[in-house]
Amino acid sequence: MSFLSATLGRVKPSPTTAVTTLARELKAAGKDVIGLGAGEPDFDTPLRIREAAKRAMDAGETRYTALDGIPELKAAIVAKFARDNGLGYTTDQVIVSTGGKQVLFNALMATLNPGDEVVIPAPYWVSYPDMVLLAGGTPVIAETSLQTSFKLTPEALEEAITPEALEAAITPQTKWLIFNSPSNPTGAGYRRDELMALTQVLLRHPHVWLMTDDMYEHITFDGFAFSTPAQVEPALYDRTLTVNGVSKAYAMTGWRIGYAAGPGVLVDAMRKVQSQSTTNPCSLRQWAAVEALNGPQADLVPNAALFQRRRDMVVEMLNAAEGVTCPVPQGAFYVYPSVAGCIGKTSAAGTVIGDDEAFSRALLEETGVAVVFGAAFGLSPHFRVSYAAADDVLRDACTRIQAFCAGLT
Ligand SMILES: Cc1ncc(COP(=O)(O)O)c(C=O)c1O
Repeated sequence: MSFLSATLGRVKPSPTTAVTTLARELKAAGKDVIGLGAGEPDFDTPLRIREAAKRAMDAGETRYTALDGIPELKAAIVAKFARDNGLGYTTDQVIVSTGGKQVLFNALMATLNPGDEVVIPAPYWVSYPDMVLLAGGTPVIAETSLQTSFKLTPEALEEAITPEALEAAITPQTKWLIFNSPSNPTGAGYRRDELMALTQVLLRHPHVWLMTDDMYEHITFDGFAFSTPAQVEPALYDRTLTVNGVSKAYAMTGWRIGYAAGPGVLVDAMRKVQSQSTTNPCSLRQWAAVEALNGPQADLVPNAALFQRRRDMVVEMLNAAEGVTCPVPQGAFYVYPSVAGCIGKTSAAGTVIGDDEAFSRALLEETGVAVVFGAAFGLSPHFRVSYAAADDVLRDACTRIQAFCAGLT
Protein backbone atom coordinates (compact mmCIF):
# COMPACT_ATOMS: atom_id res chain seq x y z
CA MET A 1 0.00 0.00 0.00
CA SER A 2 1.33 3.46 -0.90
CA PHE A 3 2.42 5.69 1.98
CA LEU A 4 1.05 8.74 0.12
CA SER A 5 -2.69 9.28 -0.12
CA ALA A 6 -4.73 8.28 -3.14
CA THR A 7 -6.14 11.82 -3.23
CA LEU A 8 -2.68 13.30 -3.64
CA GLY A 9 -2.04 10.87 -6.47
CA ARG A 10 -4.83 12.57 -8.45
CA VAL A 11 -3.25 16.01 -8.06
CA LYS A 12 -0.45 17.32 -10.25
CA PRO A 13 2.23 19.71 -9.04
CA SER A 14 1.80 23.31 -10.22
CA PRO A 15 3.09 23.65 -13.81
CA THR A 16 3.73 27.35 -13.25
CA THR A 17 6.10 26.43 -10.43
CA ALA A 18 7.80 23.87 -12.70
CA VAL A 19 8.49 26.55 -15.34
CA THR A 20 9.77 28.96 -12.70
CA THR A 21 12.07 26.25 -11.30
CA LEU A 22 13.47 25.39 -14.74
CA ALA A 23 14.07 29.09 -15.46
CA ARG A 24 15.85 29.46 -12.12
CA GLU A 25 18.07 26.43 -12.84
CA LEU A 26 19.03 27.79 -16.27
CA LYS A 27 19.80 31.17 -14.72
CA ALA A 28 21.96 29.51 -12.06
CA ALA A 29 23.81 27.74 -14.88
CA GLY A 30 24.69 31.16 -16.29
CA LYS A 31 22.03 31.41 -19.02
CA ASP A 32 20.47 34.77 -19.91
CA VAL A 33 16.88 34.05 -18.85
CA ILE A 34 13.82 36.34 -18.78
CA GLY A 35 11.11 34.94 -16.51
CA LEU A 36 7.58 35.89 -17.58
CA GLY A 37 5.96 33.04 -15.69
CA ALA A 38 5.23 34.57 -12.29
CA GLY A 39 1.86 36.18 -11.59
CA GLU A 40 2.76 39.09 -9.34
CA PRO A 41 3.16 42.85 -9.65
CA ASP A 42 6.80 43.84 -10.05
CA PHE A 43 6.61 46.84 -7.69
CA ASP A 44 6.85 47.20 -3.91
CA THR A 45 3.96 47.13 -1.48
CA PRO A 46 3.06 50.82 -0.85
CA LEU A 47 4.87 52.45 2.06
CA ARG A 48 1.67 53.26 3.97
CA ILE A 49 0.87 49.51 4.09
CA ARG A 50 4.37 48.48 5.15
CA GLU A 51 4.29 51.14 7.87
CA ALA A 52 0.99 49.76 9.18
CA ALA A 53 2.57 46.33 9.62
CA LYS A 54 5.52 47.85 11.48
CA ARG A 55 3.21 49.81 13.75
CA ALA A 56 1.24 46.65 14.51
CA MET A 57 4.42 44.81 15.44
CA ASP A 58 5.55 47.59 17.75
CA ALA A 59 2.09 47.74 19.32
CA GLY A 60 2.38 44.08 20.26
CA GLU A 61 -0.19 42.73 17.80
CA THR A 62 1.71 39.47 17.79
CA ARG A 63 -0.70 37.01 19.31
CA TYR A 64 -3.40 34.72 17.94
CA THR A 65 -6.29 36.73 16.59
CA ALA A 66 -9.90 35.74 16.03
CA LEU A 67 -9.51 32.77 13.72
CA ASP A 68 -11.46 34.36 10.86
CA GLY A 69 -9.78 37.78 11.09
CA ILE A 70 -9.56 40.80 13.39
CA PRO A 71 -12.80 42.80 13.68
CA GLU A 72 -11.08 45.87 12.17
CA LEU A 73 -10.20 43.96 9.00
CA LYS A 74 -13.61 42.34 8.71
CA ALA A 75 -15.18 45.80 9.02
CA ALA A 76 -12.80 47.12 6.31
CA ILE A 77 -13.86 44.23 4.05
CA VAL A 78 -17.56 44.93 4.64
CA ALA A 79 -16.88 48.58 3.75
CA LYS A 80 -14.92 47.56 0.64
CA PHE A 81 -17.73 45.35 -0.67
CA ALA A 82 -20.22 48.18 -0.12
CA ARG A 83 -17.94 50.85 -1.66
CA ASP A 84 -16.59 48.98 -4.70
CA ASN A 85 -19.29 46.42 -5.45
CA GLY A 86 -22.55 47.69 -3.98
CA LEU A 87 -22.81 44.47 -1.94
CA GLY A 88 -24.21 44.48 1.57
CA TYR A 89 -22.54 42.03 3.97
CA THR A 90 -22.23 41.85 7.72
CA THR A 91 -18.96 40.97 9.46
CA ASP A 92 -20.24 37.50 10.38
CA GLN A 93 -20.53 36.77 6.64
CA VAL A 94 -16.81 37.50 6.17
CA ILE A 95 -13.72 35.32 6.55
CA VAL A 96 -10.07 36.29 6.21
CA SER A 97 -7.58 33.60 5.25
CA THR A 98 -3.95 33.07 4.27
CA GLY A 99 -4.32 34.32 0.69
CA GLY A 100 -7.18 34.03 -1.72
CA LYS A 101 -5.91 30.52 -2.32
CA GLN A 102 -6.81 29.40 1.18
CA VAL A 103 -10.23 31.02 0.91
CA LEU A 104 -11.00 28.96 -2.19
CA PHE A 105 -9.56 25.82 -0.65
CA ASN A 106 -11.57 26.25 2.56
CA ALA A 107 -14.78 26.68 0.57
CA LEU A 108 -14.17 23.54 -1.47
CA MET A 109 -13.10 21.50 1.59
CA ALA A 110 -16.18 22.68 3.44
CA THR A 111 -18.67 21.69 0.72
CA LEU A 112 -17.47 18.90 -1.55
CA ASN A 113 -18.40 15.25 -1.17
CA PRO A 114 -17.17 12.47 -3.43
CA GLY A 115 -19.15 12.71 -6.67
CA ASP A 116 -19.78 16.45 -6.39
CA GLU A 117 -18.87 18.32 -9.55
CA VAL A 118 -17.38 21.77 -9.97
CA VAL A 119 -17.67 23.52 -13.33
CA ILE A 120 -14.49 25.34 -14.26
CA PRO A 121 -14.31 27.36 -17.49
CA ALA A 122 -11.06 26.74 -19.39
CA PRO A 123 -8.61 28.33 -19.70
CA TYR A 124 -8.55 28.41 -15.90
CA TRP A 125 -6.18 29.41 -13.15
CA VAL A 126 -3.99 26.32 -12.67
CA SER A 127 -5.02 25.67 -9.07
CA TYR A 128 -8.80 25.34 -9.49
CA PRO A 129 -9.03 21.76 -10.80
CA ASP A 130 -6.41 20.42 -8.41
CA MET A 131 -8.00 22.12 -5.41
CA VAL A 132 -11.29 20.48 -6.35
CA LEU A 133 -9.52 17.11 -6.57
CA LEU A 134 -7.79 17.64 -3.22
CA ALA A 135 -11.17 18.39 -1.65
CA GLY A 136 -12.55 15.13 -3.06
CA GLY A 137 -14.68 16.60 -5.85
CA THR A 138 -14.65 16.24 -9.62
CA PRO A 139 -13.66 19.16 -11.85
CA VAL A 140 -15.79 19.51 -14.99
CA ILE A 141 -14.04 21.66 -17.55
CA ALA A 142 -16.18 23.89 -19.77
CA GLU A 143 -14.07 24.95 -22.72
CA THR A 144 -13.99 28.40 -24.21
CA SER A 145 -11.96 29.48 -27.21
CA LEU A 146 -10.21 32.37 -28.90
CA GLN A 147 -13.30 32.96 -31.08
CA THR A 148 -15.38 33.89 -28.03
CA SER A 149 -12.53 35.98 -26.56
CA PHE A 150 -12.13 33.25 -23.92
CA LYS A 151 -15.48 34.05 -22.40
CA LEU A 152 -17.78 31.32 -21.27
CA THR A 153 -20.85 32.19 -23.32
CA PRO A 154 -24.25 31.18 -21.99
CA GLU A 155 -24.66 29.04 -25.10
CA ALA A 156 -21.53 27.07 -24.26
CA LEU A 157 -22.78 26.49 -20.74
CA GLU A 158 -26.25 25.49 -21.93
CA GLU A 159 -24.80 23.27 -24.61
CA ALA A 160 -22.67 21.54 -22.02
CA ILE A 161 -25.67 20.66 -19.86
CA THR A 162 -27.21 18.33 -22.44
CA PRO A 163 -27.38 14.90 -20.80
CA GLU A 164 -25.69 13.31 -23.83
CA ALA A 165 -22.60 15.46 -23.58
CA LEU A 166 -19.89 13.65 -21.64
CA GLU A 167 -18.42 16.91 -20.53
CA ALA A 168 -21.79 18.22 -19.49
CA ALA A 169 -20.98 21.32 -17.49
CA ILE A 170 -23.99 21.40 -15.22
CA THR A 171 -25.45 18.12 -14.02
CA PRO A 172 -27.50 17.22 -10.94
CA GLN A 173 -24.12 16.63 -9.24
CA THR A 174 -22.84 20.15 -9.92
CA LYS A 175 -22.19 22.02 -6.71
CA TRP A 176 -20.22 25.04 -7.86
CA LEU A 177 -19.29 27.14 -10.83
CA ILE A 178 -15.90 28.77 -10.29
CA PHE A 179 -15.87 32.08 -12.10
CA ASN A 180 -12.90 34.40 -12.59
CA SER A 181 -13.03 37.80 -14.27
CA PRO A 182 -10.69 39.43 -15.23
CA SER A 183 -9.12 36.06 -15.80
CA ASN A 184 -5.82 34.46 -15.06
CA PRO A 185 -4.52 33.35 -17.63
CA THR A 186 -6.35 35.25 -20.38
CA GLY A 187 -7.09 38.68 -18.91
CA ALA A 188 -10.63 38.38 -20.34
CA GLY A 189 -13.17 40.42 -18.41
CA TYR A 190 -16.96 39.95 -18.50
CA ARG A 191 -19.00 43.08 -19.11
CA ARG A 192 -22.12 43.53 -17.04
CA ASP A 193 -24.43 42.35 -19.84
CA GLU A 194 -22.26 39.30 -20.48
CA LEU A 195 -22.27 38.49 -16.80
CA MET A 196 -26.03 38.95 -16.69
CA ALA A 197 -26.46 36.39 -19.50
CA LEU A 198 -24.44 33.90 -17.44
CA THR A 199 -26.29 34.55 -14.21
CA GLN A 200 -29.60 33.90 -16.00
CA VAL A 201 -28.37 30.38 -16.79
CA LEU A 202 -27.52 29.84 -13.14
CA LEU A 203 -30.97 31.03 -12.08
CA ARG A 204 -32.38 28.06 -13.98
CA HIS A 205 -30.16 25.69 -11.93
CA PRO A 206 -30.85 26.55 -8.29
CA HIS A 207 -28.66 23.74 -6.95
CA VAL A 208 -25.48 25.33 -8.39
CA TRP A 209 -23.53 27.77 -6.21
CA LEU A 210 -21.19 30.39 -7.58
CA MET A 211 -17.64 30.97 -6.38
CA THR A 212 -16.46 34.19 -7.96
CA ASP A 213 -12.74 34.96 -7.83
CA ASP A 214 -12.45 38.74 -8.18
CA MET A 215 -8.73 38.91 -7.50
CA TYR A 216 -8.01 41.17 -10.50
CA GLU A 217 -10.94 43.55 -9.92
CA HIS A 218 -8.76 46.65 -9.79
CA ILE A 219 -6.54 45.88 -12.78
CA THR A 220 -8.79 46.74 -15.75
CA PHE A 221 -8.25 48.69 -18.95
CA ASP A 222 -9.86 51.01 -21.49
CA GLY A 223 -12.55 52.09 -19.03
CA PHE A 224 -13.74 48.49 -18.52
CA ALA A 225 -16.29 48.55 -15.69
CA PHE A 226 -15.79 45.62 -13.33
CA SER A 227 -18.91 43.86 -12.04
CA THR A 228 -19.28 40.89 -9.73
CA PRO A 229 -22.10 38.32 -10.09
CA ALA A 230 -24.00 38.93 -6.83
CA GLN A 231 -24.11 42.64 -7.72
CA VAL A 232 -25.44 41.98 -11.23
CA GLU A 233 -28.00 39.39 -10.16
CA PRO A 234 -29.05 39.88 -6.52
CA ALA A 235 -31.11 36.66 -6.72
CA LEU A 236 -27.77 34.79 -6.65
CA TYR A 237 -26.60 36.52 -3.45
CA ASP A 238 -27.76 33.61 -1.28
CA ARG A 239 -25.59 31.12 -3.18
CA THR A 240 -22.56 33.21 -4.10
CA LEU A 241 -19.19 33.30 -2.40
CA THR A 242 -17.42 36.52 -3.43
CA VAL A 243 -13.66 36.01 -3.12
CA ASN A 244 -11.04 38.71 -3.23
CA GLY A 245 -7.67 39.60 -1.70
CA VAL A 246 -4.94 42.17 -1.42
CA SER A 247 -2.25 40.26 -3.35
CA LYS A 248 -2.65 41.71 -6.83
CA ALA A 249 -4.31 45.09 -6.23
CA TYR A 250 -1.83 46.28 -3.59
CA ALA A 251 1.30 44.37 -4.69
CA MET A 252 1.07 42.16 -1.58
CA THR A 253 1.52 38.64 -2.99
CA GLY A 254 3.96 37.63 -0.26
CA TRP A 255 1.80 38.89 2.58
CA ARG A 256 -0.80 36.14 2.06
CA ILE A 257 -4.08 37.80 2.93
CA GLY A 258 -7.29 36.91 1.09
CA TYR A 259 -10.92 37.18 2.07
CA ALA A 260 -14.46 36.30 1.08
CA ALA A 261 -18.05 37.05 1.94
CA GLY A 262 -21.06 34.85 1.45
CA PRO A 263 -23.99 33.09 3.08
CA GLY A 264 -23.47 32.53 6.81
CA VAL A 265 -23.93 28.75 6.62
CA LEU A 266 -21.05 28.50 4.13
CA VAL A 267 -18.76 30.97 5.87
CA ASP A 268 -19.33 29.15 9.21
CA ALA A 269 -18.26 25.90 7.56
CA MET A 270 -15.16 27.58 6.11
CA ARG A 271 -14.31 28.87 9.60
CA LYS A 272 -14.51 25.30 10.85
CA VAL A 273 -11.99 24.14 8.21
CA GLN A 274 -9.67 27.02 9.06
CA SER A 275 -10.03 26.38 12.80
CA GLN A 276 -8.59 22.89 12.35
CA SER A 277 -5.87 23.81 9.87
CA THR A 278 -4.12 27.20 9.96
CA THR A 279 -6.20 29.17 12.49
CA ASN A 280 -5.89 32.93 11.94
CA PRO A 281 -3.84 34.50 9.14
CA CYS A 282 -0.74 36.39 10.37
CA SER A 283 -1.76 39.16 12.78
CA LEU A 284 0.65 41.79 11.41
CA ARG A 285 -0.39 41.28 7.83
CA GLN A 286 -4.02 41.61 8.81
CA TRP A 287 -3.24 45.11 10.08
CA ALA A 288 -1.42 45.84 6.82
CA ALA A 289 -4.55 44.72 4.94
CA VAL A 290 -6.70 47.06 7.07
CA GLU A 291 -4.52 49.91 5.82
CA ALA A 292 -4.63 48.60 2.22
CA LEU A 293 -8.44 48.59 2.19
CA ASN A 294 -9.19 51.62 4.36
CA GLY A 295 -6.39 53.93 3.21
CA PRO A 296 -6.33 56.10 0.08
CA GLN A 297 -7.11 54.06 -3.02
CA ALA A 298 -5.44 56.55 -5.36
CA ASP A 299 -2.57 54.16 -6.30
CA LEU A 300 -4.92 51.71 -8.00
CA VAL A 301 -5.59 53.89 -11.05
CA PRO A 302 -1.95 54.63 -12.05
CA ASN A 303 -1.06 50.98 -11.48
CA ALA A 304 -3.78 49.87 -13.89
CA ALA A 305 -2.64 52.53 -16.38
CA LEU A 306 0.93 51.19 -16.17
CA PHE A 307 -0.28 47.65 -16.88
CA GLN A 308 -2.42 48.90 -19.76
CA ARG A 309 0.61 50.51 -21.40
CA ARG A 310 2.56 47.28 -21.04
CA ARG A 311 -0.39 45.28 -22.35
CA ASP A 312 -0.52 47.43 -25.47
CA MET A 313 3.17 46.94 -26.17
CA VAL A 314 3.12 43.18 -25.53
CA VAL A 315 -0.05 42.56 -27.59
CA GLU A 316 1.35 44.54 -30.52
CA MET A 317 4.75 42.85 -30.43
CA LEU A 318 3.30 39.35 -30.06
CA ASN A 319 0.85 39.86 -32.91
CA ALA A 320 3.86 40.80 -35.02
CA ALA A 321 5.42 37.37 -34.29
CA GLU A 322 4.85 34.86 -37.11
CA GLY A 323 2.25 32.22 -36.26
CA VAL A 324 1.12 33.98 -33.05
CA THR A 325 -2.33 35.52 -32.50
CA CYS A 326 -2.75 37.59 -29.36
CA PRO A 327 -6.19 38.81 -28.24
CA VAL A 328 -6.49 42.09 -26.34
CA PRO A 329 -7.34 41.49 -22.66
CA GLN A 330 -9.61 43.70 -20.56
CA GLY A 331 -7.70 43.25 -17.33
CA ALA A 332 -5.21 41.42 -15.06
CA PHE A 333 -1.57 41.32 -16.26
CA TYR A 334 -1.51 38.35 -18.60
CA VAL A 335 -1.89 37.70 -22.30
CA TYR A 336 -2.73 34.28 -23.65
CA PRO A 337 -1.74 34.17 -27.31
CA SER A 338 -2.48 31.26 -29.63
CA VAL A 339 0.49 29.55 -31.30
CA ALA A 340 -1.67 27.53 -33.70
CA GLY A 341 0.38 28.98 -36.57
CA CYS A 342 3.61 27.52 -35.11
CA ILE A 343 2.45 23.95 -34.50
CA GLY A 344 4.11 21.36 -36.74
CA LYS A 345 7.10 23.59 -37.47
CA THR A 346 10.72 23.01 -36.42
CA SER A 347 12.80 25.45 -34.39
CA ALA A 348 16.24 26.73 -35.41
CA ALA A 349 17.80 24.22 -32.98
CA GLY A 350 15.81 21.35 -34.48
CA THR A 351 12.95 20.93 -31.99
CA VAL A 352 9.67 19.90 -33.55
CA ILE A 353 6.91 22.16 -32.18
CA GLY A 354 4.30 19.46 -31.67
CA ASP A 355 2.29 21.31 -29.03
CA ASP A 356 2.38 24.38 -26.80
CA GLU A 357 4.53 22.62 -24.21
CA ALA A 358 7.19 21.95 -26.87
CA PHE A 359 6.87 25.57 -28.02
CA SER A 360 7.41 26.95 -24.51
CA ARG A 361 10.27 24.58 -23.74
CA ALA A 362 12.09 25.35 -26.99
CA LEU A 363 11.48 29.07 -26.45
CA LEU A 364 13.12 28.83 -23.03
CA GLU A 365 16.02 26.67 -24.13
CA GLU A 366 16.76 28.58 -27.33
CA THR A 367 15.98 32.19 -26.36
CA GLY A 368 15.90 32.21 -22.57
CA VAL A 369 12.28 33.46 -22.36
CA ALA A 370 10.25 31.56 -19.74
CA VAL A 371 6.48 31.46 -20.34
CA VAL A 372 3.86 28.93 -19.22
CA PHE A 373 2.38 26.58 -21.82
CA GLY A 374 -1.36 26.63 -22.42
CA ALA A 375 -2.06 22.98 -21.58
CA ALA A 376 -1.38 23.90 -17.94
CA PHE A 377 -4.44 26.20 -18.08
CA GLY A 378 -6.63 23.76 -19.96
CA LEU A 379 -6.63 25.31 -23.44
CA SER A 380 -4.07 24.62 -26.19
CA PRO A 381 -2.20 25.64 -28.25
CA HIS A 382 -1.43 28.79 -26.29
CA PHE A 383 1.08 30.22 -23.86
CA ARG A 384 0.71 32.68 -21.02
CA VAL A 385 2.87 35.75 -20.64
CA SER A 386 2.80 37.68 -17.40
CA TYR A 387 3.62 41.28 -18.30
CA ALA A 388 4.19 42.30 -14.70
CA ALA A 389 7.79 43.18 -15.64
CA ALA A 390 9.70 46.33 -16.61
CA ASP A 391 9.12 47.76 -20.10
CA ASP A 392 12.65 47.08 -21.39
CA VAL A 393 12.51 43.50 -20.10
CA LEU A 394 9.18 42.96 -21.88
CA ARG A 395 10.50 44.53 -25.10
CA ASP A 396 13.58 42.29 -25.00
CA ALA A 397 11.44 39.19 -24.35
CA CYS A 398 8.96 39.97 -27.15
CA THR A 399 11.82 40.65 -29.58
CA ARG A 400 13.26 37.23 -28.71
CA ILE A 401 9.84 35.60 -29.21
CA GLN A 402 9.54 37.29 -32.62
CA ALA A 403 13.01 36.04 -33.61
CA PHE A 404 12.19 32.53 -32.37
CA CYS A 405 8.98 32.43 -34.40
CA ALA A 406 10.69 33.86 -37.47
CA GLY A 407 13.24 31.04 -37.19
CA LEU A 408 10.59 28.28 -37.29
CA THR A 409 10.51 26.36 -40.55
C1 LIG B 1 -7.14 33.97 -10.36
C2 LIG B 1 -6.38 33.88 -9.09
N1 LIG B 1 -7.04 33.57 -7.97
C3 LIG B 1 -6.40 33.46 -6.79
C4 LIG B 1 -5.05 33.65 -6.70
C5 LIG B 1 -4.39 33.50 -5.36
O1 LIG B 1 -4.18 34.70 -4.76
P1 LIG B 1 -3.45 34.80 -3.34
O2 LIG B 1 -2.06 35.24 -3.61
O3 LIG B 1 -4.23 35.81 -2.58
O4 LIG B 1 -3.51 33.46 -2.71
C6 LIG B 1 -4.31 33.96 -7.84
C7 LIG B 1 -2.86 34.10 -7.77
O5 LIG B 1 -2.13 33.96 -8.73
C8 LIG B 1 -5.00 34.09 -9.07
O6 LIG B 1 -4.35 34.38 -10.20
